[in-house]
Amino acid sequence: MGKIILTGDRPTGRLHIGHYVGSLKRRVELQNSGEYDETFIMIADAQALTDNADNPEKVRQNIIEVALDYLSCGLDPKISTLLIQSQIPELCELSFYYMNLVTVSRLQRNPTVKSEIQMRNFEASIPVGFFTYPISQAADITAFKATTVPVGEDQLPMLEQTKEIVRRFNMIYDEVLVEPDSLLPDNKACLRLPGTDGKAKMSKSLNNCIYLSDTEEETKKKIMNMYTDPNHIRVDDPGQVEGNPVFIYLDAFAKPEHFAEYFSDYQNLSEVKEHYSRGGLGDVKIKKFLNNVLQEELAPIRARRKEYEKDIPAVYEILKKGSEKAEAVAAQTLSEVKRAMKINYFEDMTFIHEQAKKFTQK
Ligand code: TRP
Repeated sequence: MGKIILTGDRPTGRLHIGHYVGSLKRRVELQNSGEYDETFIMIADAQALTDNADNPEKVRQNIIEVALDYLSCGLDPKISTLLIQSQIPELCELSFYYMNLVTVSRLQRNPTVKSEIQMRNFEASIPVGFFTYPISQAADITAFKATTVPVGEDQLPMLEQTKEIVRRFNMIYDEVLVEPDSLLPDNKACLRLPGTDGKAKMSKSLNNCIYLSDTEEETKKKIMNMYTDPNHIRVDDPGQVEGNPVFIYLDAFAKPEHFAEYFSDYQNLSEVKEHYSRGGLGDVKIKKFLNNVLQEELAPIRARRKEYEKDIPAVYEILKKGSEKAEAVAAQTLSEVKRAMKINYFEDMTFIHEQAKKFTQK
């Protein structure tokens, strides 16, 4: 059996550097590793609609933004299949059958759903589609028989739910579905990049994100305005490294060669941290270093985006081709699922003949 990647994002906004270190960068490395037979990257518009029913235009507008973010990060449509979830009707059919394998109380216990319900003030009025999206996500993953799902930490409960559905399905019917493994970033700082304001998470509504599509100037401005240690007032004051977003970003992005190039007073990040803790190293200096490091990483992404932006219809064509290819794969899985569930009546001539006999022998 092959090794297959599936992962995706909700198109509710442009992607930011938290998405990048948390998952996008890894996807590109995996794609280029040559170790995977297929890489499917899904723009999960149907999932985005589960909590944006009244704002379909937002989802529609952001499909192209996410597609451009993917392509500019180096996802290569010649290797990876980029698809739009809603264009694969088989996913709905799979979800419908999986719904019978999951209890309401199990969904209520899902930590991601729980916290999302809180964040959206949905407590009294949870849309059914939103409540059941872990099931639809299991369909996304299993339709492609994904073995590997590179995601951020917040998605682990979704993977757990998927595994449970796979086990139940295979036990009740037949060994059709594949149990996926998650793949988390191995650099701790990449698990969850805080916002530029020091808040735990980057979020559009908090206005604390650095977007992949931000210009060089916008990026620099955001970095120079970043929250640091509020008690580090004078340069000579000792500064706090832990929880300081500037250092977390450096943990996520700085590479050994960056020091010689942009910060040659130091050999590595530990030396910088040490000096900052001791006192005598100003925020502006570190922010300038961070800016150099980030710009180096983001410049090629921006350049590629510019190229793709010149031919938007071609980007939609990539998504169309990818969705068509993905649909063929999902259709194959669905047909195996229906066979295992014995709801493939018209394919099963032996069954029809047996039924016929039952009536003629009466
Ligand atoms: N739930 C994911 C997110 O919010 C998006 C997603 C949809 C996804 N389907 C998926 C991720 C399948 C991995 C696999 O970012």
